[in-house]
Amino acid sequence: MEFIVKLHSFLRWALLLLMIVSIVKAAMSTSGKNPYTSSDRKRTLFTMIAAHLQLVIGVVLYLQSTIVQAGLDNMGAAMKNSTLRYWTVEHITMMIIAIVFITIGNIRSKKMDTDAGKYKQVLIWFGLALLVIIVAMPWPFRPDGIGRGWF
Ligand code: HEM
Repeated sequence: MEFIVKLHSFLRWALLLLMIVSIVKAAMSTSGKNPYTSSDRKRTLFTMIAAHLQLVIGVVLYLQSTIVQAGLDNMGAAMKNSTLRYWTVEHITMMIIAIVFITIGNIRSKKMDTDAGKYKQVLIWFGLALLVIIVAMPWPFRPDGIGRGWF
């Protein structure tokens, strides 16, 4: 269980790095100057795979977590407690939304005919996903019970 939490925590950095590189490259390429190469396509795909892996690991954690269990046992009270609400509802909901955005970005970038169009889809959808992930992350500086380690 502890190993799975560590894996989930570490994988966030791989996902963030892949997302940031994809977004920066896309932001520099929407004019159409840069071709959308096979390494761009692979990076977009690996980003989606990393996100889906986070989803699978997250589901395993969710089903085993004592803090989630405490929240689910009494949802009424959990909604009034910011830590229990975060772990029972907010983290899972927002992260799933972000993973859906990443999936849409991957699919739509493949469907576009032009290189600029492909980059634009990555920029929009990965950009939105990054904002949601940053908000939904249990950063160490967040209040007690939400804030975790950097790694
Ligand atoms: C982009 C996707 C996600 C990212 C970046 C992410 C990130 C994190 C981080 C950094 C932690 C803290 C780890 C630690 O304590 O060191 C965490 C904990 C957790 N995550 Fe996620 N997460 C994601 C998606 C999900 C999803 C989709 C679920 C549920 C289906 C989920 C369920 C959990 C649970 C239950 C914990 C806490 C487990 C516990 O300590 O009891 N996560 N997540």
